[in-house]
Amino acid sequence: MRAEKLMEIARDWGTPSYIFDMGELKRRVAYLKSHLPERVQLCYAIKANAFLTGELNNIMPRFEICSPGEYRICETLGIPGEKMVISGVYKTPSFIRELVERRPDIGVYTVESEEQLHLLQACARESGRTLPVLLRLTSGNQFGLDKPVLKQAIADNDPALLDIRGIQFFSGTQKASVKKLKRELDKLETLIDELEQDYGFVCRELEYGPGLPAFYFEGDSFDEDAHMAGFSEIINNLHIKSELTFELGRGIAASCGTYLTSVVDKKTNKGLNYAIVDGGMHHLVYFGQSMAMRLPHMQVLPPRAAGEAEDWNLCGALCTANDILVKQYPVSGLQVGDVFAFENTGAYCMIEGISLFLSRDLPQVLLVDEDGTVRKVREAVPTYPLNTPQ
Ligand SMILES: Cc1ncc(COP(=O)(O)O)c(C=O)c1O
Repeated sequence: MRAEKLMEIARDWGTPSYIFDMGELKRRVAYLKSHLPERVQLCYAIKANAFLTGELNNIMPRFEICSPGEYRICETLGIPGEKMVISGVYKTPSFIRELVERRPDIGVYTVESEEQLHLLQACARESGRTLPVLLRLTSGNQFGLDKPVLKQAIADNDPALLDIRGIQFFSGTQKASVKKLKRELDKLETLIDELEQDYGFVCRELEYGPGLPAFYFEGDSFDEDAHMAGFSEIINNLHIKSELTFELGRGIAASCGTYLTSVVDKKTNKGLNYAIVDGGMHHLVYFGQSMAMRLPHMQVLPPRAAGEAEDWNLCGALCTANDILVKQYPVSGLQVGDVFAFENTGAYCMIEGISLFLSRDLPQVLLVDEDGTVRKVREAVPTYPLNTPQ
Protein backbone atom coordinates (compact mmCIF):
# COMPACT_ATOMS: atom_id res chain seq x y z
CA MET A 1 0.00 0.00 0.00
CA ARG A 2 1.28 3.48 -0.79
CA ALA A 3 3.03 5.49 1.91
CA GLU A 4 0.54 8.42 1.72
CA LYS A 5 -2.43 6.10 2.25
CA LEU A 6 -0.73 4.39 5.19
CA MET A 7 0.11 7.75 6.77
CA GLU A 8 -3.48 8.90 6.31
CA ILE A 9 -4.75 5.72 8.00
CA ALA A 10 -2.26 6.02 10.87
CA ARG A 11 -3.31 9.66 11.40
CA ASP A 12 -7.08 9.08 11.13
CA TRP A 13 -7.38 5.69 12.84
CA GLY A 14 -4.35 5.39 15.07
CA THR A 15 -1.95 2.58 15.81
CA PRO A 16 -1.23 -0.23 16.43
CA SER A 17 -3.41 -1.46 13.56
CA TYR A 18 -3.68 -4.32 11.17
CA ILE A 19 -4.70 -3.18 7.72
CA PHE A 20 -5.93 -5.55 5.06
CA ASP A 21 -6.10 -4.29 1.50
CA MET A 22 -9.11 -5.75 -0.32
CA GLY A 23 -7.84 -4.73 -3.75
CA GLU A 24 -4.63 -6.66 -3.16
CA LEU A 25 -6.58 -9.66 -1.81
CA LYS A 26 -8.62 -9.83 -5.01
CA ARG A 27 -5.53 -9.39 -7.18
CA ARG A 28 -3.84 -12.19 -5.29
CA VAL A 29 -6.72 -14.63 -5.81
CA ALA A 30 -6.87 -13.63 -9.49
CA TYR A 31 -3.12 -14.25 -9.77
CA LEU A 32 -3.42 -17.72 -8.27
CA LYS A 33 -6.36 -18.62 -10.52
CA SER A 34 -4.62 -17.40 -13.65
CA HIS A 35 -1.34 -19.18 -12.79
CA LEU A 36 -2.83 -22.56 -11.95
CA PRO A 37 -4.55 -24.99 -14.33
CA GLU A 38 -8.28 -24.50 -14.69
CA ARG A 39 -9.11 -27.82 -13.03
CA VAL A 40 -7.75 -26.51 -9.71
CA GLN A 41 -10.22 -24.88 -7.37
CA LEU A 42 -9.17 -22.94 -4.29
CA CYS A 43 -10.07 -23.43 -0.65
CA TYR A 44 -9.18 -20.76 1.90
CA ALA A 45 -7.82 -22.05 5.22
CA ILE A 46 -9.39 -19.45 7.46
CA LYS A 47 -6.85 -19.96 10.25
CA ALA A 48 -4.53 -17.73 8.22
CA ASN A 49 -6.75 -14.69 8.78
CA ALA A 50 -10.42 -14.99 9.66
CA PHE A 51 -11.03 -11.32 8.83
CA LEU A 52 -10.74 -12.08 5.12
CA THR A 53 -13.34 -14.86 5.16
CA GLY A 54 -16.43 -12.75 4.46
CA GLU A 55 -14.55 -10.71 1.87
CA LEU A 56 -13.59 -13.88 0.00
CA ASN A 57 -17.04 -15.46 0.05
CA ASN A 58 -17.95 -14.36 -3.49
CA ILE A 59 -14.74 -15.60 -5.05
CA MET A 60 -13.82 -18.66 -3.00
CA PRO A 61 -15.52 -22.02 -3.55
CA ARG A 62 -14.41 -23.55 -0.24
CA PHE A 63 -13.32 -22.67 3.27
CA GLU A 64 -11.35 -24.98 5.51
CA ILE A 65 -12.57 -24.77 9.10
CA CYS A 66 -10.49 -26.34 11.87
CA SER A 67 -12.35 -25.61 15.11
CA PRO A 68 -15.78 -24.81 16.51
CA GLY A 69 -14.63 -21.20 16.81
CA GLU A 70 -13.75 -21.00 13.13
CA TYR A 71 -17.14 -22.51 12.32
CA ARG A 72 -18.94 -19.87 14.43
CA ILE A 73 -17.10 -17.16 12.49
CA CYS A 74 -18.25 -18.65 9.18
CA GLU A 75 -21.79 -19.13 10.48
CA THR A 76 -21.94 -15.49 11.61
CA LEU A 77 -20.63 -14.34 8.23
CA GLY A 78 -23.24 -16.43 6.38
CA ILE A 79 -20.75 -18.66 4.57
CA PRO A 80 -22.87 -21.33 2.83
CA GLY A 81 -22.57 -24.81 4.35
CA GLU A 82 -21.72 -26.35 0.96
CA LYS A 83 -18.49 -24.36 0.98
CA MET A 84 -17.41 -25.62 4.39
CA VAL A 85 -14.74 -28.26 4.84
CA ILE A 86 -14.99 -29.31 8.49
CA SER A 87 -11.45 -30.22 9.28
CA GLY A 88 -9.09 -30.36 12.25
CA VAL A 89 -7.34 -32.88 14.46
CA TYR A 90 -9.73 -32.42 17.40
CA LYS A 91 -13.39 -32.75 16.55
CA THR A 92 -15.60 -32.83 19.62
CA PRO A 93 -18.60 -35.17 19.47
CA SER A 94 -20.95 -32.39 20.58
CA PHE A 95 -19.78 -30.07 17.80
CA ILE A 96 -19.99 -32.71 15.07
CA ARG A 97 -23.42 -33.82 16.33
CA GLU A 98 -24.60 -30.20 16.26
CA LEU A 99 -23.43 -29.80 12.67
CA VAL A 100 -24.90 -33.09 11.50
CA GLU A 101 -28.24 -32.25 13.10
CA ARG A 102 -28.45 -28.58 12.15
CA ARG A 103 -26.40 -28.29 8.97
CA PRO A 104 -27.27 -30.96 6.41
CA ASP A 105 -25.71 -28.59 3.86
CA ILE A 106 -22.10 -29.01 5.12
CA GLY A 107 -19.84 -29.61 2.12
CA VAL A 108 -17.52 -32.24 3.54
CA TYR A 109 -16.01 -33.52 6.80
CA THR A 110 -12.41 -34.65 7.00
CA VAL A 111 -11.39 -37.77 8.90
CA GLU A 112 -8.13 -37.51 10.86
CA SER A 113 -8.28 -40.69 12.97
CA GLU A 114 -10.19 -43.93 13.54
CA GLU A 115 -11.89 -42.18 16.44
CA GLN A 116 -13.17 -39.47 14.08
CA LEU A 117 -14.24 -42.14 11.60
CA HIS A 118 -16.34 -43.84 14.28
CA LEU A 119 -17.78 -40.52 15.43
CA LEU A 120 -18.87 -39.61 11.90
CA GLN A 121 -20.30 -43.09 11.35
CA ALA A 122 -22.26 -42.83 14.61
CA CYS A 123 -23.57 -39.37 13.66
CA ALA A 124 -24.58 -40.67 10.23
CA ARG A 125 -26.41 -43.61 11.81
CA GLU A 126 -28.22 -41.37 14.32
CA SER A 127 -29.28 -38.87 11.68
CA GLY A 128 -30.17 -41.44 9.02
CA ARG A 129 -28.08 -39.50 6.51
CA THR A 130 -24.96 -40.33 4.54
CA LEU A 131 -22.15 -37.92 5.39
CA PRO A 132 -19.65 -36.70 2.79
CA VAL A 133 -16.06 -37.22 3.95
CA LEU A 134 -12.45 -36.92 2.89
CA LEU A 135 -9.85 -39.17 4.51
CA ARG A 136 -6.79 -37.21 5.56
CA LEU A 137 -3.55 -39.02 4.79
CA THR A 138 -0.75 -38.39 7.26
CA SER A 139 2.54 -36.92 6.11
CA GLY A 140 4.29 -38.47 9.10
CA ASN A 141 3.14 -36.51 12.15
CA GLN A 142 0.12 -36.35 14.45
CA PHE A 143 -2.21 -35.35 11.62
CA GLY A 144 -4.24 -37.69 9.46
CA LEU A 145 -4.47 -41.43 9.02
CA ASP A 146 -1.65 -43.85 8.42
CA LYS A 147 -1.85 -45.39 4.93
CA PRO A 148 -2.89 -48.90 6.09
CA VAL A 149 -5.60 -47.39 8.31
CA LEU A 150 -6.83 -45.23 5.44
CA LYS A 151 -6.99 -48.28 3.17
CA GLN A 152 -8.86 -50.26 5.82
CA ALA A 153 -11.38 -47.44 6.19
CA ILE A 154 -12.05 -47.67 2.46
CA ALA A 155 -12.19 -51.49 2.46
CA ASP A 156 -14.67 -51.53 5.39
CA ASN A 157 -16.76 -48.53 4.40
CA ASP A 158 -20.52 -48.72 4.62
CA PRO A 159 -21.60 -46.36 1.82
CA ALA A 160 -24.94 -45.84 3.49
CA LEU A 161 -23.11 -44.06 6.34
CA LEU A 162 -20.15 -42.32 4.75
CA ASP A 163 -19.68 -41.15 1.21
CA ILE A 164 -15.88 -41.20 0.98
CA ARG A 165 -15.24 -38.63 -1.71
CA GLY A 166 -11.48 -38.77 -1.65
CA ILE A 167 -8.33 -37.74 0.13
CA GLN A 168 -7.01 -34.68 1.94
CA PHE A 169 -3.27 -34.15 2.26
CA PHE A 170 -1.34 -31.30 3.84
CA SER A 171 2.31 -31.76 4.71
CA GLY A 172 3.35 -28.27 5.77
CA THR A 173 3.71 -24.64 4.87
CA GLN A 174 6.33 -22.54 3.02
CA LYS A 175 7.04 -25.17 0.36
CA ALA A 176 9.19 -23.38 -2.19
CA SER A 177 10.41 -26.48 -4.02
CA VAL A 178 8.62 -27.71 -7.14
CA LYS A 179 10.47 -31.00 -6.71
CA LYS A 180 8.89 -31.52 -3.30
CA LEU A 181 5.43 -30.81 -4.70
CA LYS A 182 6.09 -33.33 -7.47
CA ARG A 183 7.23 -35.99 -4.99
CA GLU A 184 4.09 -35.48 -2.92
CA LEU A 185 1.72 -35.55 -5.88
CA ASP A 186 3.46 -38.62 -7.33
CA LYS A 187 2.93 -40.46 -4.03
CA LEU A 188 -0.69 -39.37 -3.88
CA GLU A 189 -1.25 -40.58 -7.45
CA THR A 190 0.29 -43.94 -6.63
CA LEU A 191 -1.96 -44.28 -3.60
CA ILE A 192 -5.05 -43.31 -5.60
CA ASP A 193 -4.14 -45.91 -8.25
CA GLU A 194 -3.68 -48.58 -5.58
CA LEU A 195 -7.04 -47.77 -4.02
CA GLU A 196 -8.72 -48.19 -7.38
CA GLN A 197 -6.93 -51.44 -8.20
CA ASP A 198 -7.34 -53.01 -4.76
CA TYR A 199 -10.78 -51.78 -3.71
CA GLY A 200 -12.39 -50.38 -6.85
CA PHE A 201 -12.39 -47.03 -5.00
CA VAL A 202 -12.62 -44.00 -7.23
CA CYS A 203 -11.03 -40.93 -5.66
CA ARG A 204 -13.37 -38.16 -6.81
CA GLU A 205 -11.66 -35.40 -4.85
CA LEU A 206 -8.10 -34.64 -3.87
CA GLU A 207 -7.82 -31.76 -1.42
CA TYR A 208 -4.16 -30.83 -1.28
CA GLY A 209 -2.21 -28.16 0.61
CA PRO A 210 0.61 -26.95 -1.64
CA GLY A 211 1.89 -24.64 1.16
CA LEU A 212 2.67 -21.80 -1.24
CA PRO A 213 5.34 -19.66 0.40
CA ALA A 214 5.26 -16.01 1.41
CA PHE A 215 8.42 -14.02 1.84
CA TYR A 216 8.92 -11.66 4.72
CA PHE A 217 12.58 -10.70 4.81
CA GLU A 218 14.91 -8.62 2.70
CA GLY A 219 17.23 -10.81 0.67
CA ASP A 220 14.74 -13.66 0.23
CA SER A 221 14.51 -14.41 -3.43
CA PHE A 222 11.82 -16.47 -5.09
CA ASP A 223 10.54 -16.50 -8.67
CA GLU A 224 6.88 -17.12 -8.07
CA ASP A 225 5.91 -17.12 -11.76
CA ALA A 226 8.50 -19.85 -12.39
CA HIS A 227 7.30 -21.79 -9.34
CA MET A 228 3.71 -21.64 -10.53
CA ALA A 229 4.70 -22.62 -14.08
CA GLY A 230 6.65 -25.66 -12.81
CA PHE A 231 3.84 -26.61 -10.47
CA SER A 232 1.22 -26.24 -13.23
CA GLU A 233 3.22 -28.53 -15.49
CA ILE A 234 3.18 -31.21 -12.79
CA ILE A 235 -0.57 -30.82 -12.35
CA ASN A 236 -1.16 -30.98 -16.11
CA ASN A 237 0.79 -34.26 -16.23
CA LEU A 238 -1.27 -35.98 -13.53
CA HIS A 239 -3.20 -38.94 -14.88
CA ILE A 240 -5.74 -39.07 -12.05
CA LYS A 241 -9.11 -37.55 -12.86
CA SER A 242 -10.02 -36.45 -9.32
CA GLU A 243 -11.31 -32.93 -8.76
CA LEU A 244 -8.38 -30.95 -7.38
CA THR A 245 -8.76 -28.45 -4.56
CA PHE A 246 -5.83 -26.54 -3.13
CA GLU A 247 -6.14 -25.53 0.51
CA LEU A 248 -4.24 -22.30 0.97
CA GLY A 249 -3.79 -19.84 3.80
CA ARG A 250 -0.58 -17.89 3.53
CA GLY A 251 -0.52 -17.97 -0.26
CA ILE A 252 -3.87 -16.15 -0.36
CA ALA A 253 -3.68 -13.88 2.67
CA ALA A 254 -0.10 -12.74 3.28
CA SER A 255 0.32 -10.06 0.66
CA CYS A 256 -2.74 -7.97 1.57
CA GLY A 257 -1.63 -7.18 5.11
CA THR A 258 0.24 -4.27 6.67
CA TYR A 259 0.85 -3.79 10.38
CA LEU A 260 1.29 -0.23 11.62
CA THR A 261 2.99 0.66 14.86
CA SER A 262 4.16 4.08 16.12
CA VAL A 263 7.25 5.18 17.96
CA VAL A 264 6.25 6.21 21.50
CA ASP A 265 9.65 6.69 23.10
CA LYS A 266 13.33 6.73 22.20
CA LYS A 267 16.60 6.49 24.07
CA THR A 268 20.29 5.67 23.71
CA ASN A 269 21.57 3.05 26.19
CA LYS A 270 25.25 2.15 26.30
CA GLY A 271 25.74 3.53 22.84
CA LEU A 272 22.78 1.75 21.18
CA ASN A 273 19.64 3.53 19.98
CA TYR A 274 16.30 2.12 21.03
CA ALA A 275 12.89 3.14 19.69
CA ILE A 276 9.93 1.87 21.73
CA VAL A 277 6.82 1.26 19.63
CA ASP A 278 3.19 0.87 20.71
CA GLY A 279 3.02 -2.66 19.26
CA GLY A 280 5.52 -5.49 19.47
CA MET A 281 6.19 -9.17 19.07
CA HIS A 282 2.79 -10.05 20.59
CA HIS A 283 1.19 -8.53 17.46
CA LEU A 284 3.64 -9.55 14.81
CA VAL A 285 5.06 -13.02 14.34
CA TYR A 286 6.99 -13.98 11.25
CA PHE A 287 7.58 -17.50 10.03
CA GLY A 288 11.26 -18.23 10.54
CA GLN A 289 11.85 -15.12 12.60
CA SER A 290 14.49 -15.53 15.27
CA MET A 291 15.06 -12.63 17.63
CA ALA A 292 14.85 -10.00 14.87
CA MET A 293 17.99 -11.36 13.24
CA ARG A 294 16.53 -10.62 9.80
CA LEU A 295 15.14 -7.48 8.24
CA PRO A 296 11.43 -7.67 7.36
CA HIS A 297 9.93 -5.91 4.34
CA MET A 298 8.99 -2.62 5.97
CA GLN A 299 9.10 1.15 5.67
CA VAL A 300 9.25 4.15 7.95
CA LEU A 301 6.59 6.85 7.66
CA PRO A 302 6.84 9.61 6.70
CA PRO A 303 9.34 8.33 4.12
CA ARG A 304 12.84 9.81 4.44
CA ALA A 305 14.97 11.22 1.70
CA ALA A 306 18.22 9.34 1.22
CA GLY A 307 20.88 10.72 3.51
CA GLU A 308 22.55 10.35 6.89
CA ALA A 309 20.82 7.77 9.02
CA GLU A 310 21.25 6.36 12.50
CA ASP A 311 20.63 2.71 13.35
CA TRP A 312 17.73 1.93 15.69
CA ASN A 313 16.62 -1.18 17.53
CA LEU A 314 12.83 -1.20 17.24
CA CYS A 315 11.43 -2.64 20.45
CA GLY A 316 7.86 -3.43 21.41
CA ALA A 317 5.90 -2.65 24.53
CA LEU A 318 6.37 -5.94 26.41
CA CYS A 319 8.48 -6.51 29.50
CA THR A 320 10.89 -8.87 27.84
CA ALA A 321 14.24 -8.21 26.25
CA ASN A 322 13.06 -10.51 23.43
CA ASP A 323 10.54 -7.93 22.26
CA ILE A 324 12.60 -6.60 19.39
CA LEU A 325 10.93 -6.24 16.01
CA VAL A 326 14.00 -5.12 14.08
CA LYS A 327 17.63 -4.61 14.97
CA GLN A 328 19.78 -1.76 13.71
CA TYR A 329 17.27 -0.29 11.29
CA PRO A 330 18.64 2.86 9.63
CA VAL A 331 16.39 5.94 9.94
CA SER A 332 17.32 9.58 9.63
CA GLY A 333 15.89 11.92 12.25
CA LEU A 334 13.70 9.38 14.04
CA GLN A 335 10.91 11.10 16.02
CA VAL A 336 8.34 9.96 18.54
CA GLY A 337 5.18 9.66 16.41
CA ASP A 338 6.94 8.15 13.39
CA VAL A 339 5.19 5.06 12.12
CA PHE A 340 6.64 1.76 10.95
CA ALA A 341 4.70 -0.24 8.37
CA PHE A 342 5.45 -3.96 8.20
CA GLU A 343 4.38 -5.51 4.92
CA ASN A 344 3.16 -8.94 3.85
CA THR A 345 1.54 -9.44 7.23
CA GLY A 346 -1.89 -10.66 6.10
CA ALA A 347 -1.46 -14.30 7.17
CA TYR A 348 -0.72 -15.72 10.61
CA CYS A 349 1.51 -12.74 11.64
CA MET A 350 -1.29 -11.29 13.72
CA ILE A 351 -2.70 -14.41 15.35
CA GLU A 352 0.35 -16.33 16.40
CA GLY A 353 1.51 -13.76 18.92
CA ILE A 354 1.61 -14.07 22.71
CA SER A 355 -1.46 -11.89 22.90
CA LEU A 356 -2.09 -12.10 26.64
CA PHE A 357 1.36 -11.09 27.83
CA LEU A 358 1.28 -7.85 29.82
CA SER A 359 -2.51 -7.63 29.36
CA ARG A 360 -2.07 -5.30 26.43
CA ASP A 361 -4.90 -4.67 23.95
CA LEU A 362 -5.21 -6.57 20.69
CA PRO A 363 -4.92 -4.07 17.85
CA GLN A 364 -7.88 -2.82 15.88
CA VAL A 365 -8.42 -4.30 12.40
CA LEU A 366 -9.09 -2.09 9.39
CA LEU A 367 -10.12 -3.17 5.90
CA VAL A 368 -9.30 -0.84 3.04
CA ASP A 369 -11.64 -1.15 0.05
CA GLU A 370 -10.54 -0.72 -3.54
CA ASP A 371 -11.87 2.86 -3.58
CA GLY A 372 -9.78 3.70 -0.49
CA THR A 373 -12.62 3.60 2.02
CA VAL A 374 -11.47 2.35 5.41
CA ARG A 375 -13.77 0.09 7.45
CA LYS A 376 -13.09 -0.80 11.06
CA VAL A 377 -14.01 -4.47 11.45
CA ARG A 378 -12.64 -4.93 14.96
CA GLU A 379 -12.13 -2.43 17.75
CA ALA A 380 -8.96 -2.78 19.79
CA VAL A 381 -9.76 -5.59 22.25
CA PRO A 382 -8.71 -5.26 25.90
CA THR A 383 -7.15 -8.50 27.13
CA TYR A 384 -6.97 -7.55 30.81
CA PRO A 385 -10.39 -9.17 31.55
CA LEU A 386 -8.89 -12.50 30.54
CA ASN A 387 -6.11 -12.02 33.07
CA THR A 388 -8.39 -10.88 35.90
CA PRO A 389 -9.55 -13.51 38.41
CA GLN A 390 -13.37 -13.80 38.53
C1 LIG B 1 -4.84 -28.76 6.91
C2 LIG B 1 -4.29 -27.45 6.49
N1 LIG B 1 -4.59 -26.97 5.26
C3 LIG B 1 -4.12 -25.78 4.83
C4 LIG B 1 -3.30 -25.00 5.64
C5 LIG B 1 -2.80 -23.68 5.11
O1 LIG B 1 -1.42 -23.71 4.93
P1 LIG B 1 -0.68 -22.48 4.22
O2 LIG B 1 -0.94 -21.29 5.04
O3 LIG B 1 0.74 -22.88 4.19
O4 LIG B 1 -1.25 -22.36 2.84
C6 LIG B 1 -2.94 -25.46 6.91
C7 LIG B 1 -2.05 -24.66 7.77
O5 LIG B 1 -1.67 -25.02 8.85
C8 LIG B 1 -3.46 -26.72 7.36
O6 LIG B 1 -3.18 -27.19 8.59
